[in-house]
Amino acid sequence: MSAAPTRALLVQPQAPGQRDPALPEEFAELARSAGAEVVALVEARLERPSASHYLGSGKVEELKDACEAAGIDLVLVNAALSPVQERNLGDALGRRVVDRVGLILDIFALRAASAEGKLQVELAQLKHQATRLVGRGKSLDSQRGGAIGLRGPGETALETDRRLIRARIDALQKRLSRIEVQQAQMRRARVRNAVPRVALVGYTNAGKSTLFNALTGGAVYAADQLFATLDPTVRRVEGLACGPLLLSDTVGFVRDLPHELVAAFRSTLAEAREADLLLHVVDAADPEREARIAAVETVLAEIGAGGLPQWRVYNKIDRIEGLVPRVELREGDAAQVWLSARDGRGLDLLREALGRRFARALLEGTVLLGHGDGRLRARLHALGAVLAEHHDEAGWTLRIRMERTVAERLAAMPEGQPLHPLLLVAQGAPP
Ligand code: GTP
Repeated sequence: MSAAPTRALLVQPQAPGQRDPALPEEFAELARSAGAEVVALVEARLERPSASHYLGSGKVEELKDACEAAGIDLVLVNAALSPVQERNLGDALGRRVVDRVGLILDIFALRAASAEGKLQVELAQLKHQATRLVGRGKSLDSQRGGAIGLRGPGETALETDRRLIRARIDALQKRLSRIEVQQAQMRRARVRNAVPRVALVGYTNAGKSTLFNALTGGAVYAADQLFATLDPTVRRVEGLACGPLLLSDTVGFVRDLPHELVAAFRSTLAEAREADLLLHVVDAADPEREARIAAVETVLAEIGAGGLPQWRVYNKIDRIEGLVPRVELREGDAAQVWLSARDGRGLDLLREALGRRFARALLEGTVLLGHGDGRLRARLHALGAVLAEHHDEAGWTLRIRMERTVAERLAAMPEGQPLHPLLLVAQGAPP
């Protein structure tokens, strides 16, 4: 491990007449997340990127001088560069150049915790790097630049040749598709366990993990040991009026999330896609808050979660003077919640609102089960949905209470037919 932080120079392209001060700030934040020391920032007015070096020759000279003067190891460019541009610029500057995509991949590599997450990041990195390594020979090693953009589980593979990388990509893809099948099975098992599912989504640093811990704090991992070990980001929330919920934490989103990464994380994001409710966590004190909300919405649409019921959770209200915790229920299933996950203010309001939201969706009624419906009966008991039961020669009469979406999921299974009359009756009831 290298001890000294990598000294980075950041290049922020700006379209003429459209200087956006938030862009370099966010980029510097990302660079620091990857462990770089941000030594200098150079803005580059850019009408049309050059095909060979991205930047014009004058700018390249200026950067070279700046790099020499400040002892720069690594140049980070806040744009998606082509492999040729990245290589030429690196050669001209005598330093490694990493673009926005490479930097974001690097951060994900640092953060990936689960076995699947690591595989996904490695796959995305290899795909991103494969084209960049071709024909580079030793120049990669001879350039300065530290580890950023090269880190992660793929590090050793990055040094091997293209054929080996291809083989590694194929092997990873096979392993990942096996994991995906397992996970789909686990999700189906959870459907059978039939506890409502809520997913946290949001821009990186919004406070999702802090809220996740605050809501699940005293709780143990979900009872289903299989997914508790393989997917440690799903936990039960206990003590709500509606009974337990399963809460999942997802990877943080960023603006222009590399498509390699969105594709690689599809199965992790399936947790969000299949939730009953999304809690979109927003840093309320962030001046860039609206742009970041829009970036999250874009990713949600990309992974097929755009149409799900969503509550906005404005977090970090402790950073805004005079704001008090509150919940505002909106039309339909929407709501806005203002709280501080860190100091805990407003958490009770969120818990109460969630409890009400899911309890309101409780169905109660009577179902008749024949002698062939033993599996459904066992499942209803396992869910704790049976309030009372009567048996005679025709079969069982069950008084049940359960969550509407759970009943709908069970009714969609072959053995769930007897639940249909209950759902029909419920349609007349207020939502
Ligand atoms: P990613 O993993 O990057 O997606 O981040 P995240 O959304 O999970 O955010 P995380 O919970 O890691 O929090 C990011 C930072 O915000 C941490 O330094 C937290 O301590 C801080 N934070 C979270 N909640 C609050 C809050 O309510 N108030 C304040 N002031 N800081 C908070």
